[in-house]
Amino acid sequence: MADQSTDVTMRGRRPGPALIDNNDGEISVTLPEAHPGYGDQRYIERREWIAAAAIHARPGDPASHVVYSGDDRRVWQLVREELHDLHQRHASSVYLESLSTLGLPSHRPPQLRDVSDTIEKATGFRMTPVAGSVSARGFYESLADRNFRSTQYIRHVSRPGFSPEPDMIHEVVGHGPHLVNERWAQLYQLAGDAVRRLQNSEVVELVSRIFWFGVECGLVREGGEVKVWGASLLSSVRELRQFQNTDIRPLDLAAMANQDYDSHAHQPVLFVADSHARLEDFLGEFFTTVEDDSTYAVKF
Ligand SMILES: [Fe+2]
Repeated sequence: MADQSTDVTMRGRRPGPALIDNNDGEISVTLPEAHPGYGDQRYIERREWIAAAAIHARPGDPASHVVYSGDDRRVWQLVREELHDLHQRHASSVYLESLSTLGLPSHRPPQLRDVSDTIEKATGFRMTPVAGSVSARGFYESLADRNFRSTQYIRHVSRPGFSPEPDMIHEVVGHGPHLVNERWAQLYQLAGDAVRRLQNSEVVELVSRIFWFGVECGLVREGGEVKVWGASLLSSVRELRQFQNTDIRPLDLAAMANQDYDSHAHQPVLFVADSHARLEDFLGEFFTTVEDDSTYAVKF
């Protein structure tokens, strides 16, 4: 999932994700004109190298070692520094504890294979490389095998506060602390199990929607305050600065199922659980019981 941009200048010309072509093994990455990295040939070549390594990897291979550039290291360090203070103020206690367990470096991007090794020792989940966007079904069915498909590139240096695509900062800072926590690793797997048994694509979309509001953008109450658990919010400087100004509603399955969202935009509506345990129970029950004939007055 992308970092969320909300500034007015981006509206109407929101940059789309990279387009990846594979012509007989020759990988090319094309960035749309509004993409922050458009025209930066060195950045594009680095993205092509990373995409090719992911595409050519055999299933189960560890992620390739990526030589990150000076710009990549600067972006990682800057975003990590800005997020650090915001996390102390707004992240849930479970997130802070899990982030500490993960032990991410501050001054350089980690290698995905090292993050994956740490997570695998804790919960059996692995992070394996993916070149670019992956279908919803492909993403969730990998979760059923405790395999989280992750990008390895870093957002462009010209806009460290924004990425039109889910970059590695989002994957390891946002999702990594979830996956290193056994209760949440189990919930990710249950989401994958749900999609694996579903034939009805509209119900798969429903799973995506509940995952979005509960896992990517989830909020929990702690000590009378609203704290952030969602991977998307916790990997976005901008969203963490703004989430308190959004319309925050109580956790409700039918309301979530009927609430539209745009993964590339600032979220106008978020949902808060009364506690971490309540959010976990809510998601666990939904992922375990959702079936092809489930209906929640969903509008699509
Ligand atoms: Fe995500």
